[in-house]
Amino acid sequence: MTASTTAALSVSAPSNFDEAADYIWNNSFDKPTLVVSRARVGEQYDALNAGLGTANIHYAVKANPAPEIIRLLVERGSGFDAASRQEIELCLSQGADPAKISFGNTIKRGVDIAFAHSIGVTLFAADCEAELDKIATHAPGARVYLRLIVENSLADWPLTRKFGCADTLLPSLLDYAKSVGLVPYGLSFHVGSQTRKAEYWNPVLDQVAPLWHAAKAAGHDLQLLNIGGGFPAYHGDPVDAPRGYAAAVMTAVKERFDDVPYVMAEPGRGMVAEAGHIAAEVMLVSRKSTQALRRWVYLDIGRFSGLAETEGEAIRYEFVTAHDGGAVGPCVLAGPSCDSADILYEKNPVDLPLELRDGDKIMIKNCGAYTSSYSSVGFNGFPPLDVLVL
Ligand SMILES: Cc1ncc(COP(=O)(O)O)c(C=O)c1O
Repeated sequence: MTASTTAALSVSAPSNFDEAADYIWNNSFDKPTLVVSRARVGEQYDALNAGLGTANIHYAVKANPAPEIIRLLVERGSGFDAASRQEIELCLSQGADPAKISFGNTIKRGVDIAFAHSIGVTLFAADCEAELDKIATHAPGARVYLRLIVENSLADWPLTRKFGCADTLLPSLLDYAKSVGLVPYGLSFHVGSQTRKAEYWNPVLDQVAPLWHAAKAAGHDLQLLNIGGGFPAYHGDPVDAPRGYAAAVMTAVKERFDDVPYVMAEPGRGMVAEAGHIAAEVMLVSRKSTQALRRWVYLDIGRFSGLAETEGEAIRYEFVTAHDGGAVGPCVLAGPSCDSADILYEKNPVDLPLELRDGDKIMIKNCGAYTSSYSSVGFNGFPPLDVLVL
C-alpha cells in the first residue's frame, strides 16, 4: 500500500538521538512521509524483550508492515502475529520462520488458512465454532488458541466487542475444538491498544486467570497464554518505559498464572510508534468568522491518509513546528480531503503557534504505528502516506 524506500544509514544511533526527527528537519518532502528509525525499533524490541523475560514476542505486523522493520525483527529473533495471508507472505519474504508466525485474526478465509497450513504455520486464533470448523477443514490437527472478550479495558483504543467469545462460551469451544480434531492450545485476549499503565492490565488478568485454571481443571492441557498487545507509546500523557512496563505486566501475569509453558506477547504500537514521525505540511490556516477564537488548520495529511486513529480523538498526536516557543492559540485540525469527516481534533482543539502559515513544515510525533497501514490508496487523489525507513 505504501511506497517504501530504504535510506542507507546506520542502524546503531544512540538512544538520546532522535534519528527520524533529525532527518525530517534536515530534508524537504513533496508529500506526507512517515520517517521511521530502524535503530529505534531495534531498541524498543530489546527493551520489551528484556522486560517480557521468558515471554515470546510476536510482533503485530499490522502496526507497521514496512519490509525493513520485519527483516530487522526477524534478525532480532522475533515471531510475528499475522492478520492475513498477505502479512504471512510479507514475513516469509523477509526470512521469517513459519513456525514463528501465528495467524492471529479470528476472521480468516478458508483458502488463506489452507495456504498458511501448507507453508508451515501451525498456530491459529478462533473465537467461535464456525471458525474452528474452517480451521479443522483447512488445517487439520492445527493448534488453536481461543480469544476471549475482555470486559474491563481501560485502553485509549479498546479492541473489545468485535473479537472474542464470552467467558461462558469458552468451555464448550475448547471441547468443540478437540472434537473436530484440533489441539486446544491456549487462550488469548487483548487489553486494548494504548493501555497507558501496566496496572490497567490487572482487571483483565483477573478475568482471564480463573478461566485458564478452570479449563486446565476440565482436562485441557493448555500450553499458551497469548497476552496480545496494548503496550503504549508516548503521546503526551505519561507512560512507563517499555522495559519496566513489560516487566510489570509479566509480574502480574505470573502472580495469576503460575504454570504457563509459553507466554506470547504481540506488541504493535509499543514496538514501532515512537520510532517514526510524519513530515507533513500546513496547507491552509483560516478563521470561520471575524469573532472566531479558534483557527482551522488544514494539513496535507488527514483521517484517510494515515491519521485514522484520530477517530473519536482517541489518539492525540503531538505536533512540532519551526515556530514552537512563540505565542500559541487553539486550532481545529483537519485533513485536506473534501470529506467533512476528515477532521482530526475539534472537540479538544490543539494549541499551535500564531505564526503558523500555509507551506510550513509540521512534524507529527510518534506515528510509527497504525498510520501507513491505514492510509488510503489515494482518496481524493491525495497520495498514500509515503514511508522512509532509515
Ligand atoms: C490480535 C492482535 N494482537 C496484537 C495487536 C497489537 O496491539 P497493539 O498495537 O496495541 O500492541 C492487535 C492490534 O489490533 C491485534 O488485533
